[in-house]
Amino acid sequence: MPSEKLQAIILAAGKATRFKTDKSKLLEKICGQEMILYVTKLLEEINIPTTAVVGFQREALQKTIKKQHNNRINYTLQKEQKGTGHALLCAQPHLTKENILVLNGDMPLISKDIINALYEKHVKTEAKISFVTAHNSDPTAGAYGRVINNNKTIEIIEEKDFTGDIHEHCCINAGIYIIKKQFLDNHINNLTTENKSHEFYITDLVKIASEKGLTVSTLSAPFDKVRGVNTLKELWAAEQVKRAEVVKQWMNKGVRFSLAQSVHIDLNVTIGAGTYIDCNVHLLKGTQVGKNCTINGFSTLSQATVGDNTTIYPHSIIGNSTIGKNAKIGPFACIHEEATIGDDAIIGNFVEVRKSSIGNNSKAKHLTYLANSCIGSNVTIGAGTITCNHDGHQYHRTIIENNVFIGANNSLVAPVDIKEHTATTAGAIICNTPQTTCSICYNPQEESTSNQPKKKKRFCKKNKEHQVSL
Ligand code: UD1
Ligand code: MG
Repeated sequence: MPSEKLQAIILAAGKATRFKTDKSKLLEKICGQEMILYVTKLLEEINIPTTAVVGFQREALQKTIKKQHNNRINYTLQKEQKGTGHALLCAQPHLTKENILVLNGDMPLISKDIINALYEKHVKTEAKISFVTAHNSDPTAGAYGRVINNNKTIEIIEEKDFTGDIHEHCCINAGIYIIKKQFLDNHINNLTTENKSHEFYITDLVKIASEKGLTVSTLSAPFDKVRGVNTLKELWAAEQVKRAEVVKQWMNKGVRFSLAQSVHIDLNVTIGAGTYIDCNVHLLKGTQVGKNCTINGFSTLSQATVGDNTTIYPHSIIGNSTIGKNAKIGPFACIHEEATIGDDAIIGNFVEVRKSSIGNNSKAKHLTYLANSCIGSNVTIGAGTITCNHDGHQYHRTIIENNVFIGANNSLVAPVDIKEHTATTAGAIICNTPQTTCSICYNPQEESTSNQPKKKKRFCKKNKEHQVSL
């Protein structure tokens, strides 16, 4: 793409009224990525200098764009939303290049081959304005401008203003244009609001060029690539298309899916070859799954890292945590808040692990709560065991060293430190009393006579070591 001859304008100021939510539709996520970033990232990839026209919720929009692109995208303000033609007018002071690529901000499925092909055609045909069309025979798929081409003149009539048969006129305007700057400068002020929306339509530039006998070029693209998103229904439809694309991409890399249409995978997720993904699995927010893993049904992994050959059994939740190799997790396990599970470990059914590290080859197979814990290797945690990590005020740490056996149904009252090779019997309550009560502030005699609430007196407020806030 010749960046010296082409610049891009993204129309992103609209109010998204058809969404009927308070939020700009361009900030809604599709496969984990805000809608606006699909367009901005594409333009950065093909190296076209870009200006976004912003207005509605512009601070939030600019913040999102800046996070991705730093200051590589310029902005211009459309104070009042008077239509797409008016949005382009607001960008006019920023126009310096010979050709202006204008893109709607609400087309997340767009790909660079369409932009490249449109530019090629625009240059080859020496058009004043070129735009992308698509075939859409389903009028329920959304309200699009209809392209009416009678071989002499061509124009785009917005669906609201269209009086013909929309089943018959299936050629729609995609919302991607390349316009010669000179033509734009000469005619942008000729747009009027004489239409049912009382807005300035960018699409009227096509009619103006055509009526003047100037060259208008069109490029046909697959409808799925240029779907617009104006309603929540269209957002859902666009996400279905994107999800299918993402899943197919992983299939091509050796990942097997049992029911691909039920799986949700964010764009920034990675999955190793040989892995099997069962139905209704959600892999979100940069999750990395290793090779030859099995992720069983109804499990959600968010910001998770899973080592090779690990199996996640159904209905498990892993959030912001790391699982080692050859591990077995679930069913119904919940591992979250920066937990780390070692290689060959087993975290079984109805086990919650939170803010804890579990060493290699350790097991907690049934009905267990492990929080704020540091658990070594080759440790067995019996069924029904819990770490009592919170005293009503703050959290305390449990340490279980290597090769410990904790019997069933133990209560580990933190802070507690269980040394290497220790075994506890079933039903034990392990309190590390010297640590749970503090000689600086705790006086048992005072407690028995005082009217003060016990909670406040039991724990040291002075000695930081005893107040590990976890
Ligand atoms: C537009 C086209 C329609 C086309 C469809 C493709 C017009 C008049 N119509 O309709 O022919 O088939 O896209 O999806 O252009 N925006 C502003 N300022 C405004 C209004 C809108 O910046 O005052 C932005 C929106 O944020 C959006 C883009 O322009 O990103 C398109 O606006 P939208 O309201 O979605 O237009 P459509 O009705 O979809
Ligand atoms: Mg739209």
